[in-house]
Amino acid sequence: MEENILKKISFSAIQPSGTPTLGNYLGALKNWAALQEEFNCIYAIADLHALTVRQEPAELRKRTLAAISLAIACGIDPSRSLLFVQSHVHTHAELAWILNCWTPFGELSRMTQFKDKSQSHADNVNAGLFDYPVLMAADILLYNADVVPIGNDQKQHLELARNIAVRFNGIFPDVFRVPEPYMPKQGARVMSLQDPAKKMSKSDPNPNSYVSMLDDRDTIVRKFKRAVTDSGAEVRRGEGKDGINNLIDIYCAACGKTPDEVEREFAGKGYGDFKLAVGEAVADVLAPIKAEFDRLMGDKAYLEKVCADGADAALGVSSRTLRKVYKKVGLLQIK
Ligand code: TYM
Repeated sequence: MEENILKKISFSAIQPSGTPTLGNYLGALKNWAALQEEFNCIYAIADLHALTVRQEPAELRKRTLAAISLAIACGIDPSRSLLFVQSHVHTHAELAWILNCWTPFGELSRMTQFKDKSQSHADNVNAGLFDYPVLMAADILLYNADVVPIGNDQKQHLELARNIAVRFNGIFPDVFRVPEPYMPKQGARVMSLQDPAKKMSKSDPNPNSYVSMLDDRDTIVRKFKRAVTDSGAEVRRGEGKDGINNLIDIYCAACGKTPDEVEREFAGKGYGDFKLAVGEAVADVLAPIKAEFDRLMGDKAYLEKVCADGADAALGVSSRTLRKVYKKVGLLQIK
């Protein structure tokens, strides 16, 4: 990484638990890339987090390399930013253990994602699922991140990471930097195309509910044509119009327009025209990313080198924080 000590630090991560969706892109990955101008950026593929639900091992390995490729295809430049796989850097699991010992059970019990996932994976409510936000806090705090580009669904976890940092600093002063969330104005919470009361998710069993970042143009346009809306006709935001509100938000995020501009653009036109326009705008955004992704997937040696270099650099940075924490909490240091 080209480290500039005057720049602040951006850290974030994504799980390799399925092909990332339009929600992952608009809520997070797009900002990961945009922040490279202003920040020293550090981004990880959170494969340890993915183990909290059952994964097919060979698939997980493939998706992890694909996630590296996709991050680069979205504009993360490995010569400028640090990109690595979480399990390649042992400090993450180590700091998570220490933080566990300073995180009250009650705080973790309040996490809505834990409650949701305990219901959707009722046959496998494991300790990792419960502890997941502490590992996430370790990811962030190891790098002294100033900002964390995330979608709205990770806000509660970020708040917990902040609480952990503040509490720890209260006992052992000046160890952690307290991070701020960084969320986009539009696209922070992209909703399902089939049930707009639910978040768009890569683990949804209905593929028509989400747009995968690797869907082709026809599939994307078809999914938007089928998007569930209300019985109205006017392209306007409003109460009880979750479907249209979501499509307006997506269109704004894809084209860089404001909701007022979009409403003016589609005044007098119906939902059909609008859905087609949203589908085409999204396809235009995702097509070059998919092309670059396909090209990079043909160069496994390059992707593995990015992982190796990223892991080396990440270990260097994060070990400094971990050593400081070990010393503060009283673990014996020997040469
Ligand atoms: P994950 O893999 O579920 O999602 C990656 C990023 O995409 C955002 N996102 C969305 N944004 C808008 N609309 C949606 N429908 C949508 N779905 C997902 C998420 O908010 C996230 O920013 N726990 C994290 C990964 C993680 C992490 C971290 C993030 C591990 N360690 C440290 C930040 C900092 C997760 O599962 O994200």
